[in-house]
Amino acid sequence: MVSESVAPPPPNGAVTWERVLSVHHWTDRLFSFRLTRPAGFRFRAGEFVMIGLLAEGKPLLRAYSVASPTWDESLEFYSIKVPDGPLTSRLQAIQTGDYVLMGKKPTGTLVLDALTQGERLYFFCTGTGMAPFASLIREPDTYERFQHVYLVHTCRFKNELAYGEALVAATKADPLVGEMASNQLTHVTTLTRDSGARQGRLTTLMETGALFHDLGVQPLSPARDRVMICGSRAMLLDTKRLCEAAGLREGSLNNPGEFVVERAFVD
Ligand code: A2P
Repeated sequence: MVSESVAPPPPNGAVTWERVLSVHHWTDRLFSFRLTRPAGFRFRAGEFVMIGLLAEGKPLLRAYSVASPTWDESLEFYSIKVPDGPLTSRLQAIQTGDYVLMGKKPTGTLVLDALTQGERLYFFCTGTGMAPFASLIREPDTYERFQHVYLVHTCRFKNELAYGEALVAATKADPLVGEMASNQLTHVTTLTRDSGARQGRLTTLMETGALFHDLGVQPLSPARDRVMICGSRAMLLDTKRLCEAAGLREGSLNNPGEFVVERAFVD
């Protein structure tokens, strides 16, 4: 990161320096931060962008989902802190007023246009895989397209749920989307190594049917349900397998379907 009062020239034409507006440390492993949004920077809710800094004079960038909604003036990101991670071990030290590098071109598969019309939309995520859904739950379009939205988030420990819980509460009180979210959004949290919320991986709760039973809905069906998945590689594969077993087909912008997947990028 760079701490001068004026940003230096960007190291190449693919990135800009953006100013850190705030940083919030949620746990010793998780933090979120806000950056200035360049004029003309447009993205779809659910997309990611490259974020980073200079390391030994060279740009070191990783993909980060934009966690803020498209109507927000600034950009929010949610990150893990990996003690030996090349980027996050340094990025976790940023402070308000610093500059970080941001790519100019957002992209990604977790976008509403990659899904066909349905009745219910499930966001399945683990850990920082919550980030793209932090954007999508604040997007009016989500509630205009789907009657019911289920945000299902599995973490290891209870304190890792804090970001999502604060965000859902703020979303339900938001002047723009609060009423829609209060009526249509259900937040389900599960823990695998701690007490204080429903126990077990979301994949286990899907397999046993406990998730759907507790929500009072039928198991996944291609006629009615649409799914977005974001987490570790293993989580993506397992959740994708369950969606396919239920008859859902993977979609893309070119060929919309019943579910889409994106890796939660960490180092
Ligand atoms: P577990 O504690 O049983 O490994 P991580 O930090 O390793 O990405 O894990 C975040 C959360 O995702 C943890 O609660 C973890 O459960 C869970 N998890 C890990 N692998 C999978 C998987 N293949 N399917 C579903 N959840 C998973």
